[in-house]
Amino acid sequence: MSPHAGIPSLKPLASNRFDERKHVLDLDDFTPGEIQLVLDNALAMQEVMGRSVRKVPALRGKTIVTLFHEPSTRTRASFEQAGKILSADVINISDSASSAKKGESLYNTALSIQAMQADIIVVRHPHSGSTNFLARHLNSSIINAGDGYHAHPSQALLDLYTIQSHFGDIKNRKVVIVGDILYSRVARSNLWGLTKMGARVTLCAPPTLMPPDFINGFSKDHPFKSVSVTHNLSEAIKDADVVMALRLQAERQSKGRLPSLREYSRLYGINREILSLANKKVIVMHPGPMNENVEINTEIAHGPHSVIQEQVKNGVAVRMALLYAVAAANRGGK
Ligand code: CP
Repeated sequence: MSPHAGIPSLKPLASNRFDERKHVLDLDDFTPGEIQLVLDNALAMQEVMGRSVRKVPALRGKTIVTLFHEPSTRTRASFEQAGKILSADVINISDSASSAKKGESLYNTALSIQAMQADIIVVRHPHSGSTNFLARHLNSSIINAGDGYHAHPSQALLDLYTIQSHFGDIKNRKVVIVGDILYSRVARSNLWGLTKMGARVTLCAPPTLMPPDFINGFSKDHPFKSVSVTHNLSEAIKDADVVMALRLQAERQSKGRLPSLREYSRLYGINREILSLANKKVIVMHPGPMNENVEINTEIAHGPHSVIQEQVKNGVAVRMALLYAVAAANRGGK
């Protein structure tokens, strides 16, 4: 069966050597062409999602295991839905129901999953670098679904897709990422993705929530040399096309870095007044889950500029495109 089975508008992976990509760990090693290919193929996948019968045989006979050692609503469910629409067999393993509870290491758990012939293991784990470790030691393909505060590449890809679908392009769009950048894997993967695609990125956070190596900006030989850094939200948001609010990560000690949530919300929360400084057609994004009325107020989160639910919807199509590409590497790039 053709690997394109059921999705005629898919672009060939070989055009960007994507058929040789075994793992997706972050976007730092993606070329702009590879990113664009995922976005183009996500558009083809979106067409499948619009059909009355959302099922194509592209990954029939493949096994995908989701292994989540942290809570998730969007990422786990959308990888599952993406795999099922492509006709893969999908098995979900969560921390609370796995032998990790009995002290088994991540490596031994993943090794057992590989022994059951999983083609792709989608992993979320609280430790930064854990997915890189698995990719070095296992034969199955690894997709990083969020590791500590290191990376969350599928989130960044769905964010890029959402920006492109609104504006038609990403290049030269002003994107402001605001909030808990210190602990945000979403911000880090978006920095790679947005800068590779030519967006103008501004990072805005209180000094205590900005990574120490970001705080003075980036040198002219740094990959993020075009990125601006500020602590002043009014200055950052001026003429922004995209405002991406980040969740304050209480589970990663963010709260201890602030005098009070009320003050944080007053200075860094997205509300109507601050948004009026942005471009009139600004879109407001948030990876979820939201702390409403902390980093974003309710009116904005559910208002006309918000694309937060679109991000979730787009996540399924983008993850279909990713699974399809990684499965191609497993079948030898045909
Ligand atoms: N954006 C995101 O990773 O959400 P979940 O934690 O619900 O997967």
